[in-house]
Amino acid sequence: MGMAQNTTIPVKVGVVLDLDTWVGKMGLSCISMALSDWYASHGHYKTRVITKIRDSQRDVVGAAAAALDLLQNEEVEAIIGPGSSMQANFMIGLGSKARVPIISFSATSPSLSSLQSQYFVRATLNDSAQVPAIKAIVQAFGWREVVLICVDNEYGNGVIPSLTSALQEVDTHVTYRSAIHLSATDDQIVKELYKLMTMSTRVFIVHMFTPLGSRLFTKANEVGMMEEGYVWILTDGMTDFLSTLDPSAIDSMQGVLGVKPHVPRTKELDSVKIRWKKKFQEEYPINEISELNIFGLRAYDAASALAIAVEKLSVGNFSFQKTNISRDSISLESIRVSPIGPNILHSLLSTQFRGLTGHFQIVDGQLHSSAFQIVNVNGEGEKGVGFWTQENGIVRRPNSTSKVNLRAITWPGESTSVPKGWVLPTNGKKLKIGVPVKEGFSEFVKVMRDPITNTTKVTGYCIAIFDAVMATLPYAVPYEYVPFETPDGNAAGNYDELISQVYFQVSHTL
Ligand SMILES: *[C@@H]1O[C@H](CO)[C@@H](O)[C@H](O)[C@H]1NC(C)=O
Ligand SMILES: *[C@@H]1O[C@H](CO)[C@@H](O)[C@H](O)[C@H]1NC(C)=O
Ligand SMILES: *[C@@H]1O[C@H](CO)[C@@H](O)[C@H](O)[C@H]1NC(C)=O
Ligand SMILES: *[C@@H]1O[C@H](CO)[C@@H](O)[C@H](O)[C@H]1NC(C)=O
Ligand SMILES: *[C@@H]1O[C@H](CO)[C@@H](O)[C@H](O)[C@H]1NC(C)=O
Ligand SMILES: *[C@@H]1O[C@H](CO)[C@@H](O)[C@H](O)[C@H]1NC(C)=O
Repeated sequence: MGMAQNTTIPVKVGVVLDLDTWVGKMGLSCISMALSDWYASHGHYKTRVITKIRDSQRDVVGAAAAALDLLQNEEVEAIIGPGSSMQANFMIGLGSKARVPIISFSATSPSLSSLQSQYFVRATLNDSAQVPAIKAIVQAFGWREVVLICVDNEYGNGVIPSLTSALQEVDTHVTYRSAIHLSATDDQIVKELYKLMTMSTRVFIVHMFTPLGSRLFTKANEVGMMEEGYVWILTDGMTDFLSTLDPSAIDSMQGVLGVKPHVPRTKELDSVKIRWKKKFQEEYPINEISELNIFGLRAYDAASALAIAVEKLSVGNFSFQKTNISRDSISLESIRVSPIGPNILHSLLSTQFRGLTGHFQIVDGQLHSSAFQIVNVNGEGEKGVGFWTQENGIVRRPNSTSKVNLRAITWPGESTSVPKGWVLPTNGKKLKIGVPVKEGFSEFVKVMRDPITNTTKVTGYCIAIFDAVMATLPYAVPYEYVPFETPDGNAAGNYDELISQVYFQVSHTL
């Protein structure tokens, strides 16, 4: 049987994920699919990435123990994982000691960058990468105040510094930060929403995952915060999953804007989605997640990148022969130092290819960020209204350079006019405009009392001008006309009271 020679070189790679979570299950199935797809179409490759899988058991210690086991006992040359940013810290430290690249497709916390470990490769975007896109939207509509609503954990807090300072650059002030705990009850959410409602800011940026996010919007809808005048902007944490939300959640989110990384639709992507779905349903028949999402796509690309990087070493005549192993005797249980880990790392950092999510390239230790898509929740789902790119800002098409506006947006309350993003506090009083009630000059101001409804109607040229001026203010000011009879009619208190009331309210408005 001389023909069937085993000429491939196995390269052991560890995988550390929370195997009982859907991110873990999806990640694992995508990694194995990516490798079998890649070697099926690149049969001539001399190397084969062989995965060694460990469960991090939703735990920081579990992740560290799994990584240590892989490094010591399996002698892996790279590790894909961990699933969450929280588990990443210690694993990244281990990777540096063992000189083994730690490649995560789902640890998105910006704070991980501060570890400055060259052995940590983030094969995904950090959560701050979308901040310029959000800033561009806020700037484009001229909103001067926003409220941030984040989940109260490392994920939620991670994006706050970059978002706050980016908005400051365009003179937009974060007036309040609302932290909602993952285990908040519906009552607690409603209480927080009522608090936000009494404030004057009407632009809310929401940074959390579902299902907390779906509950937030269901409640916001119930208390009347999904009506005309409100603006809601989602980060990718929810935007990426709009298509998986149930119809009642989508109903509560009408008019919401969202940003998410732009994943160009390709034939390969469609094919992978269909094949993955079939495979996944066979592997996990009773799993509720059945659509391939961004985490799966990133896992697929990360595994493909690793296969390419490892192969490049063999082509470059790199020896995979066992060299004598040096051991770093000072570190944890004298951890094995990988002889080829540094080479795999350098190869990976210079690997570029067309992945499922677009152009794959690692820049400064993380996936190169390209375009973001801006969507508007409308009807039964989302509608693309434009893109944001680093080079051209807000554009209609990802590679166009002409600056045009976004497509028509349907705002909350089915409104088509851009919300001003600001009102007087709802617990405050309306701005009262005194209107003299007197005979004559009725073309300027005319006060009529409707005897049936007992309301006054104020019309005339001065009123029309005033309404027009108020309408052009960059923010909304609720106001009402108060007929003022002189000298003894006394419809609205005396004149001095009226003046002080107006002064008080105007000074609070400006
Ligand atoms: C050839 O490789 C396969 C797996 O890749 C392995 O199971 C088999 O033992 C190898 N055979 C030889 C002769 O090395
Ligand atoms: C996050 O990603 C963006 C885009 O790639 C990059 O400019 C930024 O420096 C990154 N931030 C951190 C903290 O890594
Ligand atoms: C690759 O290495 C082998 C021996 O290890 C050597 O004979 C060969 O010339 C090398 N090829 C190149 C292109 O360097
Ligand atoms: C390790 O390799 C070096 C040469 O590369 C050699 O001098 C040394 O004796 C080797 N050590 C062991 C323990 O094999
Ligand atoms: C824009 O992208 C489309 C498809 O992705 C391509 O056909 C077109 O040539 C691109 N145009 C430019 C100006 O790059
Ligand atoms: C009509 O409204 C005024 C104040 O708006 C009130 O003082 C008056 O009692 C009302 N009259 C009737 C008949 O309701």
